[in-house]
Amino acid sequence: MKATAQIGVTGLAVMGRNLARNFARHGYTVAVHNRTPAKTKALVDEFGHEGAFVAAETAEEFVAALERPRRLMIMVQAGAATDAVIAEFAPLLEPGDVIIDGGNAHFADTRRREQALREQGLHFVGAGVSGGEEGALNGPSIMPGGSAESYASLGPMFESISAKVDGEPCATHVGTDGAGHFVKMVHNGIEYADMQLIGEAYDLLRQVAGYTPAEIAEIFRTWNRGRLDSYLIEITAEVLAHVDASTGRPFVDVVVDAAGQKGTGRWTVQTALDLGSPVTAIAQATFARAASSQSALRAAYRDLPGGTSPVLSQTEAQRFTAQVEHALYASKLIAYDQGWKMILDAAEEYGWKIDLGAVAKIWRGGCIIRAAFLDRIRAAYAVDPGLVSLLSDPGFAAEVKDAQVPWREVVAMAARRGVPVPAFSASLSYYDTLRSDRLPAALTQGQRDYFGAHTYRRVDREGSFHTLWGEAGRAETEA
Ligand code: 6PG
Repeated sequence: MKATAQIGVTGLAVMGRNLARNFARHGYTVAVHNRTPAKTKALVDEFGHEGAFVAAETAEEFVAALERPRRLMIMVQAGAATDAVIAEFAPLLEPGDVIIDGGNAHFADTRRREQALREQGLHFVGAGVSGGEEGALNGPSIMPGGSAESYASLGPMFESISAKVDGEPCATHVGTDGAGHFVKMVHNGIEYADMQLIGEAYDLLRQVAGYTPAEIAEIFRTWNRGRLDSYLIEITAEVLAHVDASTGRPFVDVVVDAAGQKGTGRWTVQTALDLGSPVTAIAQATFARAASSQSALRAAYRDLPGGTSPVLSQTEAQRFTAQVEHALYASKLIAYDQGWKMILDAAEEYGWKIDLGAVAKIWRGGCIIRAAFLDRIRAAYAVDPGLVSLLSDPGFAAEVKDAQVPWREVVAMAARRGVPVPAFSASLSYYDTLRSDRLPAALTQGQRDYFGAHTYRRVDREGSFHTLWGEAGRAETEA
């Protein structure tokens, strides 16, 4: 087998197959391999006309087809399957070769794999790939980690097959070792928050304003022509406008209201807890999926007393709709800001140099959270690369100021009406936490010192202190 392929893809399920096609369509010779050879044959039979494929039946043939330094992309289930494929191929590779994992691997696994393979002289690149099957074929957002050397070899290829916005590729070297998969994980966490916020906006327009799914679809279509312009808003309008063929009812009314999750949102929250990064909107979105799936509990509590729900007049409904737009936008800003802060916290923890503006830039297209909004974030970091929060950007700060009354009105209305808005509420409370002069955490510290002698700091002098709660006079001692 002549070594002619610039890239190899092993694992030809839809994502792997589409990425292989994307590389081939961009003029690369692509070696393709699958544990089931029939899948490899089917790909070349059906899409061989799209470009230069080299079908490999065995691992040895696949490696032999790759030009040096070999670039071998794994597109299999995250977890043990990925480890198994690495174990199969690594012994066949030579120092300087590159293994890329394009699955949704946990960044800690990627860091472990990168370290182990580096000791064998191999490069290991965990690359987040976002945009689903369509993105993989026509232009994903690609978030590779790994060494700068591996990006020198891979970058031009990823940039050529990625989505483009203003002529710029939605791919960049995110950072070393597991940084790429970490950023992809945060992308998915933000995706959860964004979807939950959209869901809460829909629920409010349905339950409080009294609109039908078709009418709400139109509202989302209008919002999609403004500052909420994004893929998720666009598809929400499509989903809400869809009528179920077999019943003639709105599609959204025939779907079981229990949300699934493959796990990347959960990882984001678990990791944020370890980092001490308060991604409250992402957490509430993830828990909302879990709560929606507690069907037995929900059935048991369905008749609990709740809020009141007087019908709004047409004018009131229109006014409320405008308020919901503000609330959605402000909550979205907080959720994204929390995501960016988490990336910053992780970069500090793991020693990554991540360009936060570049993350916004490559998320402008190809990925699930692609949105005009991301270009605003890119621009904010272009003005101030050291931005500590999007809320410090003058443009965003003005919009949050404008949102104050409607945002609070919407959350209050939801509470009065008994409409669950966990992500709206979490975003607003996080915002109020940031702006509070004094938080009840002072009382928490007092309680902790009372029952656990965990000590506290004082506002008026340095040091740690403990009060002798059980003794007369309750003297204070320096801890
Ligand atoms: C993407 C998506 C994708 C995600 C699946 C399942 O960026 O293309 O985020 O990676 O894993 O859509 O997501 P759930 O976690 O909602 O099942």
